[in-house]
Amino acid sequence: MTLTLFFPTMKVLVLGSGGREHALVWKLRQSPRVSKIYCAPGNGGIAAEAECLPADLKSIESLVHLAKRIEPDLTVVGPELPLTLGLVEHFAGHGWKTFGPTAAAAQLESSKSFAKLFMQRHHIPSAHYAICKSREEVRDALARFHMPIVLKADGLAAGKGVVICKTKDEATTIASEMLSGKMLGEAGLCVVIEEYLQGDELSFLVLSDGNRVAPLVAAQDHKRIGDGDTGPNTGGMGAYSCQALLDEQMQNWILQHIARPVVQGMRAEGVEYKGILYCGLMLTARGPMVLEFNCRFGDPEAQAILMRLESDLLEALEAAIEGRVSEGDFRWSADATACVVMASGGYPGTFEAGKKISGLEEAEHMKDVKVFHAGTSARDHTYFTAGGRVLGITARAPELKTAVARAYEAVSKISFEGAHYRKDIAAKAGKR
Ligand code: AMP
Ligand code: GLY
Repeated sequence: MTLTLFFPTMKVLVLGSGGREHALVWKLRQSPRVSKIYCAPGNGGIAAEAECLPADLKSIESLVHLAKRIEPDLTVVGPELPLTLGLVEHFAGHGWKTFGPTAAAAQLESSKSFAKLFMQRHHIPSAHYAICKSREEVRDALARFHMPIVLKADGLAAGKGVVICKTKDEATTIASEMLSGKMLGEAGLCVVIEEYLQGDELSFLVLSDGNRVAPLVAAQDHKRIGDGDTGPNTGGMGAYSCQALLDEQMQNWILQHIARPVVQGMRAEGVEYKGILYCGLMLTARGPMVLEFNCRFGDPEAQAILMRLESDLLEALEAAIEGRVSEGDFRWSADATACVVMASGGYPGTFEAGKKISGLEEAEHMKDVKVFHAGTSARDHTYFTAGGRVLGITARAPELKTAVARAYEAVSKISFEGAHYRKDIAAKAGKR
């Protein structure tokens, strides 16, 4: 080890603009080796902790241009889009160290049919399914499924591509709309019909170096807009993480039967999966089953998870890139965390932006509370709403119920016109 390692020398670029990216910036800044953090494009709150730069995450060319200008020592990719467009391999071509899977590896998220066929080849537990590219195939598949079923657009659809259908008529109508391209464009030209699974959902993330994995603490998301899991799906309205969410035996089972077989299966097929592998699981009576994979940290799970991380995130991400992940790469707090998302009026439908946010300072002054910004902009030290999910108010405490109460107390101090949030984050966790 050389002496230079003890000086902050690294320039880090975080790509993205949500609460997850704010949490990544916040945690990476705590690394003694980081000298400078950029975030592109970032948001109002991130701008207080990193230098934000304009960026178009849909254009690899513009991101290459940006990186040429700032020459990052490490780039950390928050959302899936740049990964599925091949950012990692493009940046590698320029010699820039980048955290995240290649486009080939990210197919586990970008194509539901790829993920289902892959899981079948590698005996990874998940729901029964059919892949359909025409209305006739949908009709034939529906003949053998018991209702309800879950209909999924094959491609990326920003949380709008999954519909639970109670009747065959409903499934036929929605599948037709997806297949016509009218509903979701290209993402819906192929659909997956899945058996409806019942149980508790769990977000289980591992860090992978393409060969070995290190588990992160588990979290639970709240995908529906309304209390009691009602209304349409969203990007995620809140999350919590605590030790009681996943016991050691179950974690070992998931590692042995799901996370490691995925990474080894990809490897056997000639694709190194490096980065975060997010396993969206349903804990069913038949055991844990995979609902989906994501090739990145979850949002808002990252906020709840990273607030429990005590070791250096930068070191862990580098270990993955350099192929030296070990199970002990993370050190976690025994504390529980809860994140409550405050959203704009109308979200997940249409909403107005530009509403003034008040009470942020008061909330931020609370002990063990961090307000992660998502859709916000800043002007003259004042913050305004600028997206659907606006803030992720996150708190930690030795007990989950205290963390939840603390998060809601902070939420009560913040207001903006039309603000709404779920009142039941972690309510299902009972007395954990
Ligand atoms: P996905 O994007 O595939 O995770 O789906 C979004 C949400 O739809 C999940 O978080 C679940 O709440 C629900 N879901 C997806 N697949 C199923 C399934 N097979 N059975 C029941 N619910 C599901
Ligand atoms: N919260 C779910 C996701 O990030 O996909």
